[in-house]
Amino acid sequence: MTTSDAFSHRARVLDALARKPGLPLSALSSETGLPEGELVSLLPDGMATPAPPEAFEAVWNSLLEWEKATFLAITPGAVLEVPGPLPAGTWGHGMFNLHDPATPLGGHLLVERLGAIWFLSKPHMGKESHSVQFYTRDGQAMFAVYVGRGNDRELLPEVKARFIALRARYESASERPLIVYSSRTGNTRRVAEAILALCPAASDLFSVETAPSPAGRPFVAVGFWVDRGLPDALSQAYLERLQGQRVGLFATLGAQPNSDHARHCMEHARQALEAKGNAVVCQFMCQGRVDPSLASAMWKHHPPTPERLARLREAERHPDEWDLQAAQDAFRAQLAGTPAAADVPAAMPAPATPIV
Ligand SMILES: Cc1cc2nc3c(=O)[nH]c(=O)nc-3n(C[C@H](O)[C@H](O)[C@H](O)COP(=O)(O)O)c2cc1C
Repeated sequence: MTTSDAFSHRARVLDALARKPGLPLSALSSETGLPEGELVSLLPDGMATPAPPEAFEAVWNSLLEWEKATFLAITPGAVLEVPGPLPAGTWGHGMFNLHDPATPLGGHLLVERLGAIWFLSKPHMGKESHSVQFYTRDGQAMFAVYVGRGNDRELLPEVKARFIALRARYESASERPLIVYSSRTGNTRRVAEAILALCPAASDLFSVETAPSPAGRPFVAVGFWVDRGLPDALSQAYLERLQGQRVGLFATLGAQPNSDHARHCMEHARQALEAKGNAVVCQFMCQGRVDPSLASAMWKHHPPTPERLARLREAERHPDEWDLQAAQDAFRAQLAGTPAAADVPAAMPAPATPIV
């Protein structure tokens, strides 16, 4: 996706909504060609409020208080709706397992795939509707929970009030630092998670595909992977959305982070941000393993030489514990409020030789 795509995406969503305001998100997704998790972040203000995936258990436990909800899951061949109260869940085998004979819903939620939770208040077929939507990291719909309706098809007022109260807890999240990462094979995500670990209770982590608007956040950390010498396209599009903000940058790449190649890439991102009045207050780069199945795409632009292959072997081990610690050191002052070398990019002990 290019930067201008990001703007045309928003225009496409707003145009489709203006023509058909009652369109469900699944239909809006087909109409615009955008994954639901991306288009929900482009809806008009007030329609959608994000919560980070780490909030899953707290959100689910709040939903247990709803006297009646409708659990909805859409598969390629069915729209499954289960009305009733929701069951409590327990963790096991990496899943959130639902089993309560007193409720109609049972099964297993693959929460490790969760990328974002959104509180959605968008009319459905001409009727007021409120729901909590759950998306994978790449923006695919997992399932949703709707405020229940009475026999007259109207929303149950107590349940609606609980929805509004729950959403309000996350509306104030706009005052929290935001961490957004783009990651194809997981390296940059690991760095993002290390940065989040500095203050997991007070900042939000999202993959770029499901990230909310950065507007109004006191600090935004954006992580990218280096693609042919530049920040990857998804993160560049996200960086374009920042204006007049305090920003931290982090990145992973196959080359060494103190190489000219790495510096040039980081400088590209920094200059684009500063041109829009942002202040880049901290930054960090480290090597990241190049997935062998993707390396051939890289060799198209930079054929393998013995030196490049050696650097790839070095990248195999990264990000390692040292990298994650150094990333935390670079961001600590911004996120944990303790003094650190926040303005100094972490330097690796390796010699400065680019991979490409
Ligand atoms: C198509 C492709 C292009 C890449 N281009 C570069 C590059 O120009 N310079 C570089 O140092 N690393 C390059 N890499 C390596 C990745 O930036 C590196 O493996 C990164 O850690 C991947 O991060 P991720 O796991 O978060 O997706 C490239 C990798 C791929 C697959």
